Amino acid sequence: MLPTIAREADAVVMIDQRKLPAEEIYVRCKTAPEVARAIRTMVIRGAPAIGVAAAMGIALGMRRSAATGTQKFAAEFHKTCELMAATRPTAVNLFWAIDRMKRSFGAAARAGESVGQIKDRLDSESMAIHDEDVASCRAMGAFGAEVVPSNARVLTHCNAGALATAGYGTALGVIRGAVEKGKRVVVFADETRPFLQGARLTAWELLRDGIETTIIADNMSGALMQQGRVDLVVVGADRIAANGDTANKIGTYTVAVLAREHKIPFYVAAPLSTIDLNAPDGEHIPIEERQAREMTHVGSSRIAPAGALIWNPAFDVTPHRFIAGIITERGIVRAPYTESLKQAFEERALA
Ligand code: MRU
Repeated sequence: MLPTIAREADAVVMIDQRKLPAEEIYVRCKTAPEVARAIRTMVIRGAPAIGVAAAMGIALGMRRSAATGTQKFAAEFHKTCELMAATRPTAVNLFWAIDRMKRSFGAAARAGESVGQIKDRLDSESMAIHDEDVASCRAMGAFGAEVVPSNARVLTHCNAGALATAGYGTALGVIRGAVEKGKRVVVFADETRPFLQGARLTAWELLRDGIETTIIADNMSGALMQQGRVDLVVVGADRIAANGDTANKIGTYTVAVLAREHKIPFYVAAPLSTIDLNAPDGEHIPIEERQAREMTHVGSSRIAPAGALIWNPAFDVTPHRFIAGIITERGIVRAPYTESLKQAFEERALA
């Protein structure tokens, strides 16, 4: 499986997603601030993957701590959590993973564990977050395969694949799940301006799996649908509000509106860790704005005149009414989402 992120005793190792597909380079982060920087600068990106990276970064940072007393160790722990939380604002998996690490720390402290024992516990919790993410993706793949017709032509946006998770992927996991069930699937990958996650990452990882992939520029999906060449749209998510409104990579909303016009089912694939029941609707989801350079340059070449104003939101919100279903690791959740999403969490609590 594609090695998105791995933990070594003294480092968190990530494939550098800024360099793909031209170069396959691995970055070794040896401190928590280096992991935080890797998340901020998109060495690693994709909602579940940044959650895993933050958890591993916290565990690594605390493993390196020289503190011997629990009070100093606790203060360092909370500072490291804050550092991770400040990296990117939209993907709720980041905050979910940090909360899990905090709960783990709290349980260890209440049990009166030593600093050494707490370090071990944080390591195990971060590895559990990693392993559970892979398992969730595989479960989404199995459930989602049901909605993929045989001989399907699937459009996806951004990269919601192995690179965006601990492995296998959410939206691309659904495609992989369908292929594993013996269905023939061909994929249209939106190039996904400005960071080009579709052209660079989705195409790269699907081709490695031998899945036929056609890259289109973002402004071509309408014409493609109009020509009857798309059967299904599957995308990932960065944060899903309690009513099903879904924040995902900028341009997802455009695809959803087009899919509705052309009566093409539009599915979101995301683990429960992407669902934020504290956000009642999409208006409560913070949208990251990124630097102008992503828009004005391609690589090191300037493509826009200096002096032009730039608007570069990284995400948009697709209203729940455009979504045919949300594929989770516990099954496919359908409208009305306020009830069905709540129920999915309650079922998980019982399981
Ligand atoms: O800015 P990015 O590349 O982190 O945005 C990623 C996306 O929007 C993905 O579609 C989303 O995180 C789902 S990843 C399984």
